[in-house]
Amino acid sequence: MLIDLHPAPADMARLVREGMAQRPRQLPAWLLYDAEGSRLFEAICEQPEYGLTRTETALLEARAPELAAALGEGVLVEFGAGNARKVGPLLEALHPPAYIALDISADHLQQSCVALQARHPAVPVLGICCDYSQLHQLPHHPLLNGQRRLGFYPGSSLGNFTPAEAKALLQQMGQLLGAGARLLIGIDQPKAVAQLEAAYNDAAGVSAAFARNLLVRLNRDLAGSFDPDAFAYTARWQPEHTRIAMALVSRQAQTVQLAGETWNFAAGEPLITEYSVKYDPEAFLALAASAGWRGAGRWSDPAGDLSLHLLVTADS
Ligand code: AVJ
Repeated sequence: MLIDLHPAPADMARLVREGMAQRPRQLPAWLLYDAEGSRLFEAICEQPEYGLTRTETALLEARAPELAAALGEGVLVEFGAGNARKVGPLLEALHPPAYIALDISADHLQQSCVALQARHPAVPVLGICCDYSQLHQLPHHPLLNGQRRLGFYPGSSLGNFTPAEAKALLQQMGQLLGAGARLLIGIDQPKAVAQLEAAYNDAAGVSAAFARNLLVRLNRDLAGSFDPDAFAYTARWQPEHTRIAMALVSRQAQTVQLAGETWNFAAGEPLITEYSVKYDPEAFLALAASAGWRGAGRWSDPAGDLSLHLLVTADS
C-alpha cells in the first residue's frame, strides 16, 4: 500500500549553479544517489574499511528486544526508508500495529514495501512517498489514527547535514511524529583518524567511484562536460568540524561546461561531494536538546564506534 504525495522535483540546475558558485564549491549530497550511485553506495557498505552498516545492523540484531522494550507501543515510522533493510529485527521484537516507510523515491519505496510486507505478514506496511523535510504533517490514514508514533532513522544519515540543518531536521521529525513521540536514531562517532579516512577512501576504490559518478550524472542530466579522471578523490578528517570532507580535487586548471554555464577550476581546487559529520554522545545530545528532544537511552557497539540513541520529546 503506497500513498504518493508527489514531492516536487528539486530544481537540480538551480541547486547545482548555487553550489558551483560557493567557495569551496559543494553539491547537494543527494545528487550522489542516481541508480548507479545507489548501487555503488551498497558496495561501499560491503567494503572491509566501512564498518558503519555492519556495526549498526549487528547492534540492531543483538539489542532488538531491549530496543523494543524501550520504544514501547506505537506505529513505527522510518525516515528515508531506502531499502528498509535494517528494520527487520525491530519489527520482529516490537510487533508494532503498523510500519510506515517514508521516502522521496516512489520506485524504491514500492519495491521495499512489497518485500518487507512479504517478510513480515503480521505487520501492516504503508509507504508514503514524500519529501518529509517539507511536510507539515503526515497524511491522515487509519493506520496512523490515535497511535503514538515511534521514529526510526538509522545509518547516521544525519551526518550529511550541517549541524544547523541537522537541528532543523530533528525539529521537523518531532513535528511529524507529534505528541509523545520517540525517535531511535543511529549516529556514527569520532574515532581514530586513520580508520575514518580509510572508511571513506577504501583500497578497492569504491568510495572514489561513488564520488566520481556524481560527475557522470551531471554530464548526463545537466549537459556537463566533466572528465571524471581529471579530478582526484580525497577524504579528509577536519577535526575543527568533527567531520570527514569528501572532495574531487581538480588535477589541473580546467574549464567545464555545466547547466548552460562555463566554470573554471584552478589546479588543486576542490569540489566538495559530501560531508559526514560525526557526533560523540554528548555533542549529539546537545544538538538533539536544541531541537526539543531529550536522551532516554543509548546502545553502542563494543568498540564504541557508533550509538543508537533513543530520544523522547523534551516535555515528556
Ligand atoms: C549515508 C551519509 C551515512 O556518511 O557514512 C559513505 C555516506 N559516503 N561513504 C556516510 C557515504 C561515502 C554515508 N551516509
